[in-house]
Amino acid sequence: MGIIEVSDLSFFYGKFQALKNVTLSIEKQKITALIGPSGCGKTTFLRTLNRMNDLVEGACCQGQVLIDGLDIYQKGVDLLELRRKVGLVFQRPNPFPLSIFDNVTYGLRVHGVQDRDVIQERLRWSLESVRLWKELKDSLDRNALSLTGEQQQRLCIARLIAVEPEILLMDEPCSALDLFATEKIEDLMRELKKQYTIVIVTHNMQQAARVSDFTGYFLLGELVEFGETTQIFTAPTDRRTEDYITGRFG
Ligand SMILES: Nc1ncnc2c1ncn2[C@@H]1O[C@H](COP(=O)(O)OP(=O)(O)OP(=O)(O)O)[C@@H](O)[C@H]1O
Ligand SMILES: [Mg+2]
Repeated sequence: MGIIEVSDLSFFYGKFQALKNVTLSIEKQKITALIGPSGCGKTTFLRTLNRMNDLVEGACCQGQVLIDGLDIYQKGVDLLELRRKVGLVFQRPNPFPLSIFDNVTYGLRVHGVQDRDVIQERLRWSLESVRLWKELKDSLDRNALSLTGEQQQRLCIARLIAVEPEILLMDEPCSALDLFATEKIEDLMRELKKQYTIVIVTHNMQQAARVSDFTGYFLLGELVEFGETTQIFTAPTDRRTEDYITGRFG
């Protein structure tokens, strides 16, 4: 059984159905990429995995999402705890306009961690995890907004890691970065999957092929095909997947 088990998931924005009976299983400590043309529901799907879509008025979700066996849509689920465990990295890095220190330790304060030693230790370990410790350890007071885009994206990942998540959801995390920065973030993802499960949405098929173990192809709200990345890119079983990856469509 996967760390995430999605069955028969449908999602509606009012009357518009953005996801249609999606079923898939996501394996622990692997990178799963979600690809597909604009508007096919990739972001919507990603956000159903930590209930970020709950914030959208008039939206409605049907079906089941199990994370570590827990039905995250059942009544009484602690959303703060869910989002600690399943963190979301946005398309544009979104550090708070605060110091590097305050950014990384923000979640700890939200979760009531007060012990200074624990905070220091988590700070260091989170920044080490994203390879920022060495370059920033002497400027933790600096405003996070003064960092480069790539550093900001790393910092946002560190902010999630500080609260010890299991799953990192990434919605086109490199779309605001240049090629060189993108490569560095991809290297980081390969490092992080030793410890975390990563689900990444990407427009970039080369990126999916480079970093992911599994790939899902979405089209018009439907998960057309899901499988090992090598299979999807070399021997897709669905004609629509083939059309997309060979560039005949999308
Ligand atoms: N808040 C919203 N209200 C109404 N419709 C929405 C909302 N958000 C998304 N949609 C619609 O749902 C569909 C899926 O959108 P979604 O953002 O999940 O697609 P996507 O695959 O992430 O696209 P992109 O590649 O452009 O990011 C689209 O038709 C979109 O217009
Ligand atoms: Mg999107």
